[in-house]
Amino acid sequence: MAETKQHNLRFATKAIHAGQESEQITGAVSVPIFQTSTYSNIKIGVKTGYDYARTDNPTRTALQKCLAELENGKYSYCFSSGLAAVHAVINLLKAGDHVVCSENVYGGTYRLFEQIMTNYGLEFTFVDTSDFRNVEKAVKPNTKLLYAETPTNPMLGITDLKKFGAFGRKKKIMTCIDNTFMSPYFQNPLDFGIDIVLHSSTKYLNGHCDVVGGCVITSDKSIAERIKFIQNAIGAVPAPMDCFLILRALKTLPLRMKAHEENTEQIAKFLSKERKVRKIYYPGLKSHPNHKTAKSQARGFGGMISIDLGSFSKAKKFCNALKIFLIAESLGGVESLVCHPPSMTHGSVPKKMREKIGLSDGLVRLSVGIEDVNDLLEDIKQALKKI
Ligand SMILES: Cc1ncc(COP(=O)(O)O)c(C=O)c1O
Repeated sequence: MAETKQHNLRFATKAIHAGQESEQITGAVSVPIFQTSTYSNIKIGVKTGYDYARTDNPTRTALQKCLAELENGKYSYCFSSGLAAVHAVINLLKAGDHVVCSENVYGGTYRLFEQIMTNYGLEFTFVDTSDFRNVEKAVKPNTKLLYAETPTNPMLGITDLKKFGAFGRKKKIMTCIDNTFMSPYFQNPLDFGIDIVLHSSTKYLNGHCDVVGGCVITSDKSIAERIKFIQNAIGAVPAPMDCFLILRALKTLPLRMKAHEENTEQIAKFLSKERKVRKIYYPGLKSHPNHKTAKSQARGFGGMISIDLGSFSKAKKFCNALKIFLIAESLGGVESLVCHPPSMTHGSVPKKMREKIGLSDGLVRLSVGIEDVNDLLEDIKQALKKI
């Protein structure tokens, strides 16, 4: 199992070069799409290093090496979706194990945990991980994993990575952070003592709304060996073409993330003063309850904002009136998207749980793209007038 070499290069250089040496036969500068299902052996018992494409594929290897470097990790494994990556991490556990999880996670993650993994004897306690005392209280003798998103989807709650990592180490409980909302450009959970970081690469990593993918990164050799085994044994691997597209997209990740954030800051400032917006959730605003923690552990605040417009009918009118923001699931693409989490991404979360975490029927989530911010502001202003 190859460990990714850590280069002392800066983020933007790694995004373009890590894992992407020129191809050996032709010198091709772009990593080729190795569209093959199997590899011929040199002779019986002598292999090229590649065997069968579920196990490994050179386009995937290049992507994995690049992602490991961007997250300051040693090992990375790619999957066919973000949920397949979450599933791989959960498969590190066995029946009877207990997980403490953020009560606000992506709806599909909640559904996977509550509606599928509980059938296999796993037990989950969902708590507000932004108050660390809740994590301490929820831990039981059989707790084997602490799992959180930070910021959370869609409430933009923040978990203190340093406390989370240190507590996990002290108690010998594995920690995993879903870093999808920040991308490695803004935040590297492994630097805070977290064991595993994962992404839905469908979002910022790919950033162009044309691939579904996921990845798991760690510096722990024994976790890496088990994830690699799970990747091959379960087989939820990404296609070579998708790996190529994500690799290509990573080259502009720093540029895109800066542009997402610049636009988002301006939109958040505008919305925070708008009287039709009952509440705004954006960790970059000083009014956010965990602004200081967010600032201490991330190099930026990202491109996601949630607003509470007070009722489903107002949320619906606003979303329907937007012209540039497209009504769509997903986030993190160059194009601005709007979503009504209670009826879309978080529809699988029971209403009682949604109410508990503040995910009201009036909530609207904006994934701010990298279009001209003036056009986006004008779009939001005209849509607000309609409610
Ligand atoms: C924070 C987060 N994690 C995981 C996922 C699941 O990723 P995918 O849709 O690629 O399976 C999503 C999807 O929206 C997400 O927002």
